[in-house]
Amino acid sequence: MKSGSYEMDSSPLLDLERLGEDVPLLEGIRTTRAIRRLGNGPVPLGLIRKVVEAGTFAPSGGNRQPWIYVAVTGEEDKAWFAERYREVFSAYIAPARQAAQSPDYPAAKRRNMESAIYLAEHMHEVPVLLFVAGWKRRGEPQHQALYPSIQNVLLACRAVGLGACITSLHLAFGAEVDRRLGLSEDRPTAAMLPIGWPLIPYKRPVRRSVDECLFYERYKGG
Ligand SMILES: Cc1cc2nc3c(=O)[nH]c(=O)nc-3n(C[C@H](O)[C@H](O)[C@H](O)COP(=O)(O)O)c2cc1C
Repeated sequence: MKSGSYEMDSSPLLDLERLGEDVPLLEGIRTTRAIRRLGNGPVPLGLIRKVVEAGTFAPSGGNRQPWIYVAVTGEEDKAWFAERYREVFSAYIAPARQAAQSPDYPAAKRRNMESAIYLAEHMHEVPVLLFVAGWKRRGEPQHQALYPSIQNVLLACRAVGLGACITSLHLAFGAEVDRRLGLSEDRPTAAMLPIGWPLIPYKRPVRRSVDECLFYERYKGG
């Protein structure tokens, strides 16, 4: 599928109803990874609606469904956000950059670092910055109530062929972001998912084996 060859809203080349409906669930789960290398071809807003709708099927405490999604596509807003994200990111990634100078730095960590750097450098070009906010409860942000919904959105992106990733570094300037998005203090953002057409394929990510994580009856690890 060629990016940039369809309109933002009416998508003559994409059947939004059917797109992504045939990916087997477990295969989709096993091949969803952080995709930060994203093309700048437009993403139909109907498709954003579809992946966010998957997010609304998540469980939440008391079925309160506290999620709020704000999809940002405007150039000025993306540039504003990208500039601030890059500043926080460059401080965050500095120790890894330093460590990666060693030839012994693990290849998987190096790839992850390079992809995070790529995203930071191209954040302003990402077609959609999808902010996830939620109602506070008893004065506290409820990030745990949002993450099942966020994961559903990532899986739906995988199903329809979009690339996406969780980011949370903007929490360092979260109040500023929230004000700009029109979110009141009792509805803070928890994460931001950059979404676009992937420049790299979906595939199985590097993970610890289940046999290291699963125990029967008692924990027997160290
Ligand atoms: C809570 C959370 C916060 C994250 N924040 C960021 C972030 O700010 N920037 C970023 O590039 N990646 C961020 N990530 C993505 C992780 O680095 C990524 O999911 C992890 O390295 C696994 O990548 P993989 O699925 O490609 O193996 C975050 C992930 C989680 C779960």
